[in-house]
Amino acid sequence: MKFQSIFLLALSATATLAQQKNWPTPTHGDFTISNFTFDSGQVLNNLKIHYQTLGKLQVHPDGTTNAVLILHGTTGSSGQFLNPDFAGVLFNPGQVLDTKKYFIIMPDGIGHGNSSKPSTSGLRASFPGYQYSDMTRATYRLLTEHLRVKHTRLVMGVSMGGMHTWTMGTQYPSLSDALMPIACLPTQISGQNRLWRKFIIELIRSDPAWNSGDYTAQPIASLGGALFLVQTMFSSPLYYQSQYPTRDAMDRYVDQLLPHIAEYDANDLLYAWNASHTYDPTEEGLGKIKARGLTAVNTADDMINPPELGVLERVVGSLELRGLGAKAVVVPESSETVGHGSYIKAKLWVDELQLLLAKTGPKGSSSCS
Ligand SMILES: *[C@@H]1O[C@H](CO)[C@@H](O)[C@H](O)[C@H]1NC(C)=O
Ligand SMILES: *[C@@H]1O[C@H](CO)[C@@H](O)[C@H](O)[C@H]1NC(C)=O
Ligand SMILES: *[C@@H]1O[C@H](CO)[C@@H](O)[C@H](O)[C@H]1NC(C)=O
Repeated sequence: MKFQSIFLLALSATATLAQQKNWPTPTHGDFTISNFTFDSGQVLNNLKIHYQTLGKLQVHPDGTTNAVLILHGTTGSSGQFLNPDFAGVLFNPGQVLDTKKYFIIMPDGIGHGNSSKPSTSGLRASFPGYQYSDMTRATYRLLTEHLRVKHTRLVMGVSMGGMHTWTMGTQYPSLSDALMPIACLPTQISGQNRLWRKFIIELIRSDPAWNSGDYTAQPIASLGGALFLVQTMFSSPLYYQSQYPTRDAMDRYVDQLLPHIAEYDANDLLYAWNASHTYDPTEEGLGKIKARGLTAVNTADDMINPPELGVLERVVGSLELRGLGAKAVVVPESSETVGHGSYIKAKLWVDELQLLLAKTGPKGSSSCS
């Protein structure tokens, strides 16, 4: 996972003392779903969902809980959160999601991390084509059937996980007290966002070395092209300019990435980038959300979800009209933001999280953050 991890590592080099690892060692688990039926009608006899948890579940007499579901981005996994920039700002003692108070659940989505996926299932390109709706349904079954979590205090997610936060809200309107989608938009993927995703899909599919998914060696050219597109869209010109201000510095960075291309799997990427195909939250679906509060956060320099599109404000505004305590926040570009990948730097939006938790806390208590 060198592409994103090199990027995250560079960020974490600046972690402060408070951000040092002081969160507990996560508990890993697997939940196997028999005969999982995808929206496409395809069935997988054994769908494995891997997950990590921190803290202990508490179920209150009124059915509310201390469960917090956190959802990762495309091609990421639950492991992407366990670093100083994210966990070190949220999970340590006294912090906003202190694991002594909250039960944190971080699943690996279908096709990601250590959950069932084309490369490790042996199915390759005959793995069922999964969509966000399938991933959301599998996560919901993990919560309700395996972890016995019928209600959550908070669902939050980043990038694809942010879109899953929206779909969690529309597919299971009463699941959560609070929702916090980060680095995403509640609308079908179109325009520039579709441009590079469609290119990734078609680059791989048209590569003779991909061989309809039945390759013996990774199709380096198309896979590398796909990773290059992601690497560009994920960050920002300002970040790259500040980190690699000369031709040679950037050349060294690229030369360092190139040998890692083959560590990725073309089928896994193809499936993951195609999973947003049917993502299309409608006003009607969004209007059903019953959470007591929703705060959506994007960053001004996010090239994937740029604020000038105005989508977030329009949708959140209409939710507000329907009485859902909804709020859209755009974090301004600064020396701290790094484009789309800013989502991992929890210090940029932790205050909004604290406000959201206070607003949606148990009635009668002033704050439960
Ligand atoms: C899953 O499907 C297979 C084949 O259709 C069937 O034999 C099996 O009993 C099913 N398993 C469960 C747990 O329903
Ligand atoms: C899968 O699990 C192993 C062992 O816990 C871990 O080292 C590895 O990073 C995980 N893989 C992914 C992609 O999360
Ligand atoms: C992408 O997903 C859609 C919806 O499931 C499907 O119709 C399409 O065939 C998929 N494309 C590829 C390249 O897998």
